[in-house]
Amino acid sequence: MKRPKEYSSVEEEDRLHFRSFLAISEIIDEPEGRAAYGSDETEDYHFQPDIVLKPSTKEAVAKIVKHCNSRCIPVYTSGARTGLSGGALPLHGGVVLSTERLNRLIEIDVRNLQATVEPGLINQVFHEACKEKGLFYPPDPSSWGSCSLGGNLALNAGGPKAVKYGVTNAYVLDLEVVLANGEIINTGARVLKNSTGYNLTQLFVGSEGTLGIITKAVFRLIPYPKHDKLMLIPFASADGACEAVSAIFQAGITPSAMEFMERDAIDYTLKFVDGVSLPLGPNVKAHLLVELDGNNEEVLMDDCLAIGEIVEGYGAEEVLLAESASEKAALWKLRRKVGEAVKSHSIYKEEDTVVPRAELAKLLKGVKEIGAKYGFQSVCYGHAGDGNLHVNILKADLSDEAWENDLPKGIREIFQLVKSLGGTLSGEHGIGLVQKDYLDIVFNNTELEIRKAIKKQLDPNWILNPGKVFPD
Ligand code: LAC
Ligand code: ZN
Repeated sequence: MKRPKEYSSVEEEDRLHFRSFLAISEIIDEPEGRAAYGSDETEDYHFQPDIVLKPSTKEAVAKIVKHCNSRCIPVYTSGARTGLSGGALPLHGGVVLSTERLNRLIEIDVRNLQATVEPGLINQVFHEACKEKGLFYPPDPSSWGSCSLGGNLALNAGGPKAVKYGVTNAYVLDLEVVLANGEIINTGARVLKNSTGYNLTQLFVGSEGTLGIITKAVFRLIPYPKHDKLMLIPFASADGACEAVSAIFQAGITPSAMEFMERDAIDYTLKFVDGVSLPLGPNVKAHLLVELDGNNEEVLMDDCLAIGEIVEGYGAEEVLLAESASEKAALWKLRRKVGEAVKSHSIYKEEDTVVPRAELAKLLKGVKEIGAKYGFQSVCYGHAGDGNLHVNILKADLSDEAWENDLPKGIREIFQLVKSLGGTLSGEHGIGLVQKDYLDIVFNNTELEIRKAIKKQLDPNWILNPGKVFPD
């Protein structure tokens, strides 16, 4: 999809206009300050925005967007810039609209088990505030200490708990959204059931800043489970680990996390994080990190034992049951830091593949075969219980030429494999900039045109996050 027309850049008259209703502290105009908003956690991309605006009210957001729409200036909504698909990168310059000042926790409604938040609130800050009141907001991306709820909404983010509790969209009841023309709408209501026409709430969740700007969200919460158990299970083969995953679910157990890490992922991360050590035998090729939670500790222990028996049949070695809160924290730190650890080693491309859970072993085997064919090393880990495998392809000694020209062919083969297994391009990281050219693998023309029609209806001048989600 071509841009509908040329975009304008931010000129002196636009700056004057922004200054008329934003405080000096809400505008970043000098190049170094702007540069920080030109990158996220996606590879080594950088695009310089013309200006960064940090409004603190929805009215200011609406004024910015209305002005940009009238001048055809691109608006790139930016949360905490932890994204892995380049979704917030200001590809065509223009305005970066940062939600960092829209970060209030407006209310935790304990009577209704609901909370109202602004998009800039950090996921873990919200999680902890809910927990203090005995309430649970489960979506917990690995970057939860730094990612924003607005970013989570934009990408329909997941995390380890998704396997039992679902991803972000399972918790959203209502959104306040500023549209491209500056109008402000609400998409839903503060209710647990809603069959009042088209579900606009779910349309905006996962729309990656291309349809509107979320300025407020109402989430449902659940009671915080009283107990949890965490097991680290080493396997002699990655295949065995993958096969054990569906066997556990088939046995009627639903863990609250079921994470996979192949050997390389653990090795890189052990070197990267402080204060975590593991007795890793030479035969260990992969691990499952399995968490169970609930209110009855005895039931959890029974399930742990049952899992121990199941995994024996898949080549598991000795299971480590975390004894203390600090042991649990260390294991979670290890798991959550895998992406960063691999990135610190080499530039990488992270593919967020997802297949039906029982096809995971086939996917992993196929990824390794494609890697051998194209000469790249991959480090795989992810949310095995969701069939969601993060495939980190290392640049390492690949030439720039191979990285730019050959690797996309290999990635295309990976996604073709994913599709043939019943899966799709992204489980939780979104399409953004880096996956948009693979969409033809999963959508036919009609399926893509329906999405473009929605985009054109809501953003006719194509100013919201242009260059993302749709193929060029
Ligand atoms: C993780 C992020 C990369 O699972 O999604 O660690
Ligand atoms: Zn993940």
